[in-house]
Amino acid sequence: MSTKKDKLVIFDTTLRDGEQSPGASMTKEEKVRIARMLERMRVDVIEAGFAIASPGDFEAVQAVAEAVTESRICSLARAVNADIVRAGEALKKANASRIHTFIATSPIHMQYKLQMDPEDVLQQAVKAVKTARQFTDDVEFSLEDGSRSEPEFMYRIIEAVIAAGAGTINIPDTVGYGEPGEYGAMFRRVIESVPNSDKAIFSTHCHNDLGLAVANSLSAVMNGVRQVECTINGLGERAGNASLEEIVMAVQTRQDLYPVHTGIDTSHIVPTSRMVSSVTGFPVQPNKAIVGANAFAHESGIHQDGVLKHRETYEIMRAEDVGWGQNRLVLGKHSGRAAVRARYEELGIAFSDGEEFQLVFQRFKELADKKHEIFDEDLHSLVALREEPA
Ligand code: KIV
Ligand code: ZN
Repeated sequence: MSTKKDKLVIFDTTLRDGEQSPGASMTKEEKVRIARMLERMRVDVIEAGFAIASPGDFEAVQAVAEAVTESRICSLARAVNADIVRAGEALKKANASRIHTFIATSPIHMQYKLQMDPEDVLQQAVKAVKTARQFTDDVEFSLEDGSRSEPEFMYRIIEAVIAAGAGTINIPDTVGYGEPGEYGAMFRRVIESVPNSDKAIFSTHCHNDLGLAVANSLSAVMNGVRQVECTINGLGERAGNASLEEIVMAVQTRQDLYPVHTGIDTSHIVPTSRMVSSVTGFPVQPNKAIVGANAFAHESGIHQDGVLKHRETYEIMRAEDVGWGQNRLVLGKHSGRAAVRARYEELGIAFSDGEEFQLVFQRFKELADKKHEIFDEDLHSLVALREEPA
């Protein structure tokens, strides 16, 4: 059996779907700064915006397309002529470009939102892909609300848009309704049922309404998907999109499971997360996986003792690998002797005997009951008091 892994294309949509998060809009200059970070991280495709949405969005896509040379730059476009032409214009100066065109394919969207017959939707999709191919040879087609679409209709439309020149087929879980087993199985069936499916890369794009965006995306990867659409910090419409850092680190940490690898330089993850947070004003929750302040912090005495003896007792990733300086032993009321003594050693403070340390440790515990975290200044003042009676 071959152990060769496929490349998983990382398509970042922080600047498009991420920006659709209420209150997260960004200026052109901010988008260029973030895009440069994404390029440094070696993101494969950067969706820079929705060129027809506003003059500002058009200029932002244009500016990102000029500033970034290593990643492919993409603009979103509905499956209508004016959108596609505008996207094509905005991407003119890109070193490598992609037009991402979409139309809804679920019964509820076709009936109420588009008010169109499925046959007309199919024809419009094919026409859109052909038009987009006049601007670039890299065209992605999305079946909006794909996870709630009829399988047989999806197979027909996918076969037709691949024949029309779409190289990437994205089946989004637009409303975050999918469940990992079901969403993954859907991809497997699509890939098996569409006769020309080997001519395209299949892509996942998940929203987090039920907190399943990352799980759904990873299940899709297990079932043949080779592009994941995601955002930094999971920013995005409503409850957000699948988070880039979680997808990338899951694939990297569980190479024993996933049949893919990414080209991402993970050491840029935390700096990029910080930049997105400061630009948008959306704080990162402390317990957020990978990029939260506590993601590599240990407070409990048992955990601290374990990590001091061998870090892999309680760490499955290295803090340095995702751009943190190092892991952090937080001193608080759950901390034990080993961690407190280790921190004192790092501060260059020695104890003449075990009894002296025991006295300081007792004071440490009394103080820790009164405040959340014990800092180095606190440790110094506890030592300064050591001559005084407890
Ligand atoms: O969630 C969605 O369906 C989208 C598409 C435009 C890809 O963002
Ligand atoms: Zn979306």
